[in-house]
Amino acid sequence: MNELVKKDLKYLWHPYTQMKDCERVPPVLIEKAEGVKLFDVDGNFYYDTISSWWCNVHGHCHPEIKKAVRRQLDSLEHVLFAGFTHSPAIELAERLVSISPNSLEKVFYSDNGSTAVEVALKMSFQYWQNKGVTGKRKFLALDLAYHGDTIGAMSVSGVDLYNERFSPLFYDSYKVPSPYCYRCPAGKEKGACSLECLGFMEERLKESAGEISAVIMEPILMGAGGMIIYPADYLAGARALADKYGVHLILDEVASGFGRTGKMFASEHASVEPDIMCVSKGITSGYLPLSATLVTDDIYRAFYDDYEKKKTFYHGHTYTANPLACAAAVKAIDLFREEDTLRNVRMIEQRLGSFLEKMSGYEIVGDVRGVGAVGALELVKARSSKEPFGIKERIGVEVYKKGLESNLLLRPLGNIVYFFLPLCAKTEELDDIFRRSEKVIERVSGSGEF
Ligand SMILES: Cc1ncc(COP(=O)(O)O)c(C=O)c1O
Repeated sequence: MNELVKKDLKYLWHPYTQMKDCERVPPVLIEKAEGVKLFDVDGNFYYDTISSWWCNVHGHCHPEIKKAVRRQLDSLEHVLFAGFTHSPAIELAERLVSISPNSLEKVFYSDNGSTAVEVALKMSFQYWQNKGVTGKRKFLALDLAYHGDTIGAMSVSGVDLYNERFSPLFYDSYKVPSPYCYRCPAGKEKGACSLECLGFMEERLKESAGEISAVIMEPILMGAGGMIIYPADYLAGARALADKYGVHLILDEVASGFGRTGKMFASEHASVEPDIMCVSKGITSGYLPLSATLVTDDIYRAFYDDYEKKKTFYHGHTYTANPLACAAAVKAIDLFREEDTLRNVRMIEQRLGSFLEKMSGYEIVGDVRGVGAVGALELVKARSSKEPFGIKERIGVEVYKKGLESNLLLRPLGNIVYFFLPLCAKTEELDDIFRRSEKVIERVSGSGEF
């Protein structure tokens, strides 16, 4: 084992990692990256098919983003964001407001996806109190949602493997079944339904809207819950229900934002305008940590009053609006226009679609789904029963290991093998990625190692 990796294992504790596994599969020591490729110290390359946890947009080591960060580094690295401001934050806020749904007019910065969600929840909660409405103290979320790893975000998330252990710490929230078409909670067939699943949300709102501050959901794409892709009409229906029952709609675009689903924001698929929107990950194209919570003027106004009225939003993080991160984000947003990034996503979507269709012929593949640069294969033991592989079988780990052998960084979510491709991927790169991925699935289905 490489000496540096030995040191890593001596001193480090990695996220979402059973460190015992690292004895058999040690972390890959990455030295540099370019475009869609990561290079390790031994000169091997790996296609970054998951955009380094869903954040890389324009490719690694992009010369223009590097230039923007370097330029910023020469003038201001950081300053507190209360009582002081700076041009990268202002320029970025102006751009965010101009590219986001029309309803959103104000930007509140923080530094990661979970905190953007915490901010959204706290803003909605305090909004009602500032308005003199005291009963609205709960949130309504989807049962397979993932909104982050802080306690507040976990309370509105539902991925049991990650969260169950901490459930005694959670505040009470309502969960309704997710629009998971392959395993429809209303017992319908994919593509042949009248969105009966939306009825679960309506039922809950009809009964409990007086206690509910907001509905929170990931628009179109539910990432960590299994790359579940649901119909735009469901999202439009949720917006209508939020209006009908007088609750906010918070859209968590942390994963789906910045072109990943083929639109700048996934809410555009349903022409839905949220009351609050959370963004992070792709905002800086994966160069520096940053997030933002965007709100309507109505929400902003509910906090705007004389100091002694105690309506101020008391929330902030040390690295809020870090100038280096804001400078990276300004450039990352401008690159969408300069490089016509969304056009490239259409090309990716088309190629990814053909690949998914081909893969749906494999017995081990129960379902395929895709939108924009995101695609998923749900692996099953038997197609007829849709029986999933169990936790002991660890089929995802087999895919991961065989992926590395085939120069691919694939990091399945349990039984879901997915692609969350950098939006700069070129045709030849995609073809190579899909060719190698098919081999991996072939090897895993034939190996009997699970
Ligand atoms: C939809 C969604 N919300 C929030 C988060 C949390 O973001 P972070 O990991 O930056 O805290 C994630 C992370 O994967 C996410 O996918």
